[in-house]
Amino acid sequence: MSAERDALATLAREACARAHAPYSGIHVGAAIRSAAGATYTGTNVENAAYPLGNCAEASAIAAGVQAEGPQFRIAETAVWAFDRDGRAVAVSPCGGCRQRIREFAVDGSVKVHFPWQDGSVRTASVDELLPYAFELPDPQAQ
Ligand code: THU
Repeated sequence: MSAERDALATLAREACARAHAPYSGIHVGAAIRSAAGATYTGTNVENAAYPLGNCAEASAIAAGVQAEGPQFRIAETAVWAFDRDGRAVAVSPCGGCRQRIREFAVDGSVKVHFPWQDGSVRTASVDELLPYAFELPDPQAQ
């Protein structure tokens, strides 16, 4: 495991302890290293009105934007999860979070690390996770 992947996975794992997930019982943590070299974490924050809950990745991105402003960019990121009994759960970013990550990724080669079903830590690029991503047309080209 590379030192940077290890550090981000540890931060994501630690963030899970701060999740607010009383409904699903899935405590998710995300950690981001920004292009500026800072690290940010986030957790899922559920709500009794279920659709209002937000994902860990969205929380971590919000922390990055709050700290660095709109220049914030993701250089590398990791996500982790535990169930309500403290057992590690295999996860990868949901479809919506893949789009969120892509919006702020330095480029499509940015690495995303996540725990997989065989107990390994998987790494995929943003482009691998979200091929043919949605992009608004360039207004200058219209
Ligand atoms: N969740 C995340 O935090 N990130 C994802 O990428 C997928 C799902 C959360 C949302 C909800 O609180 C819980 O996991 C179960 O879906």
